Amino acid sequence: MRIELENAGFVYQQGTAFEVPAVNGVSLVVGPGERVGIAGPVGSGKSSLLALMSGIVPPDSGRLLVDGRPVAGGTRIERGSIGIAFQSPENSLFEKTVYDDVAFAPRNLGVGRDEERRRVMAALAAVGLDRDQFGPRNPFSLSSGEQRRVALAGVLALEPRLLLLDEPTAFLDPATRADIIGRLVELNRAHGMAMVIVGHDMDELAVFAERLVIMDSGRVVADSPARKLLTDVTLLERHGLEPPGTVQLSRMITQKTGQHVEPALTEAEALMQLKKLREQGGSR
Ligand SMILES: Nc1ncnc2c1ncn2[C@@H]1O[C@H](COP(=O)(O)OP(=O)(O)O)[C@@H](O)[C@H]1O
Ligand SMILES: [Mg+2]
Repeated sequence: MRIELENAGFVYQQGTAFEVPAVNGVSLVVGPGERVGIAGPVGSGKSSLLALMSGIVPPDSGRLLVDGRPVAGGTRIERGSIGIAFQSPENSLFEKTVYDDVAFAPRNLGVGRDEERRRVMAALAAVGLDRDQFGPRNPFSLSSGEQRRVALAGVLALEPRLLLLDEPTAFLDPATRADIIGRLVELNRAHGMAMVIVGHDMDELAVFAERLVIMDSGRVVADSPARKLLTDVTLLERHGLEPPGTVQLSRMITQKTGQHVEPALTEAEALMQLKKLREQGGSR
């Protein structure tokens, strides 16, 4: 599946004195199997953009195309093909058991009992919840991290071809955040499900994203391979984003030693560089 926003715009409270242009002339394509990160300051239009991409909210200007066909022109997006989790999706858990909550979407799609069960089990496993332990539990008796996992499982159970997640790790502890991001990457690799994640943590996006889109004031100001943008400290800081820790470390080493060090994007890369520097230091 390929979705495309073409010069799309969205304005809150249009026609009133309180108009807020949230998305402004955005053109963006997400192709099959891509892992895209969206970053930008608070209020830059990330959540609104995600809603436009999902097809839930029609753009006020421009259009959304799915596989080349404009959605507004009567073409409907195939049910279940796009899954979206808004910020803090655990706030909309409501069933009496975790099983039923995760089963909600596939049940609505009308899949049979066996298929429903298969999907719920796969989704729970994908988010790292033991099905026997958690399936029968009341969602409201879980920790916030577990609730977040259940909510994400609920979207995964749709088995969408495109998954849109708005800050899926916000307010969680660092270990849970890293675990969830790692699992999403694994899912993408295993099933080729395209994923778009809105995030504010560049370390996390460095792990997740192959491609990064930076929003500012409702516009896309950069759309490139993630490595290129995440190592561009000037660009990130211009848009109020903190570069990944490893990139900051590389820059500090360059500044302190006078030796140019390529910006590292992962811990493994940073360690390699430190090792190389030590070897060079030892040979002098
Ligand atoms: N329901 C709403 N009513 C009016 N303005 C809104 C609403 N939701 C968001 N906005 C405004 O739209 C702009 C973009 O918001 P949003 O898409 O939530 O940005 P982000 O997710 O990047 O923080 C902001 O100026 C925000 O204040
Ligand atoms: Mg937002």
